[in-house]
Amino acid sequence: MSMDIVIAGFGTVGQGVAEAIAMRKDLIREAFGKEARIVGAFDSSSAIYSEEGLDPSVLLANKSGTGRVGDEPLVDGVAFLESIDYDVLVEVSPTNIETGGSGLHHIRSALSNGRHVVTVNKGPLALAFGELSRLAQANGVEMRYEGSVGGAMPIINLCRESLMGQNIDSIMGILNGTCNFILSRMDDGLPFEQALKEAQELGYAETDPSYDINGVDTACKVVILANSVFGIDCTYDDVDVTGITAITEEAVAMAADQNYCIRLIGEISPERLEVSPRLITRGHPLSVTGTLNVAQVNTDLAGPISISGRGAGRMETASAILSDLLAIMRSNVNNK
Ligand SMILES: NC(=O)c1ccc[n+]([C@@H]2O[C@H](COP(=O)([O-])OP(=O)(O)OC[C@H]3O[C@@H](n4cnc5c(N)ncnc54)[C@H](OP(=O)(O)O)[C@@H]3O)[C@@H](O)[C@H]2O)c1
Repeated sequence: MSMDIVIAGFGTVGQGVAEAIAMRKDLIREAFGKEARIVGAFDSSSAIYSEEGLDPSVLLANKSGTGRVGDEPLVDGVAFLESIDYDVLVEVSPTNIETGGSGLHHIRSALSNGRHVVTVNKGPLALAFGELSRLAQANGVEMRYEGSVGGAMPIINLCRESLMGQNIDSIMGILNGTCNFILSRMDDGLPFEQALKEAQELGYAETDPSYDINGVDTACKVVILANSVFGIDCTYDDVDVTGITAITEEAVAMAADQNYCIRLIGEISPERLEVSPRLITRGHPLSVTGTLNVAQVNTDLAGPISISGRGAGRMETASAILSDLLAIMRSNVNNK
């Protein structure tokens, strides 16, 4: 008995997922009485499939040795997915916020064909959350996306499961580690350009950092939380977005004089979907420094609850995907 997994995208996160599944192989078999098997994987140019299951270490060795995960050329991800048998698609191809990218096609194909989906790819979710959720429901399968907001920080499960029965009034969060690193270094006196350069040198910011510093990445996470926690049927265009590029050294110094720091905050509530730099009192849970992500969930019965964790990284993100995979296994334990 097994849950058969296909990984779309075999870069940093895809490889982390293969490694995490291999690391937890025995624990999974013991807990669920069946195996989590990778039966397929593909990257931008190659694919591999075996109904008998693939050894994760072979996939990792293929990728590091040749740059390709498989020896079959990949013509079209959707055609590949529709030619094979599997239970769950792990979609971790590159994010495209304008079109949803190939990830959107992969997810649509999987859900339409009755396969569960686990993804951390924000583009498809920010553009088509409602459509994809309805597709999952219509086909009797699950779509899970814990790692798409806050990486290893389990904000979605916290709100949807642990805080069940609460009214959640709002969520305020630092949901982009790159911006938080830049703002933290500005607290130390660095001008924006220098702090950005340092973030790029340390590998925290992309060569093109525009999605991060213009607030686009945070806005995608606002959309995912608004849909999944508040049931607000919205897309990226519904979020009011201001990034951090206009923040000056003078503004940061003036804030510090009044015991504040400036942080890029995503706010989600039934009244407001917003990304903007805010003044945060030093010592408040949202005044964290460095690349950490943090969120404060404001509830009616429990009051404010804060959670923080690493917002990105190979194994950190893979850990969230693993938890979604196991949740699917748990709810389908009697199948196959
Ligand atoms: N890195 C993180 O910490 C993190 C955290 C949260 C969310 N995410 C999201 O996770 C996803 C993957 O991120 P990553 O850091 O792993 O990116 P990455 O290292 O750039 O890997 C992307 C992978 O996707 C493959 N790919 C490109 N086009 C494809 C296509 N059309 N079909 C299938 N595969 C394709 C690439 O192939 P080649 O190897 O052949 O180039 C590569 O293997 C992104 O959506 C990202 O936003 C990442």
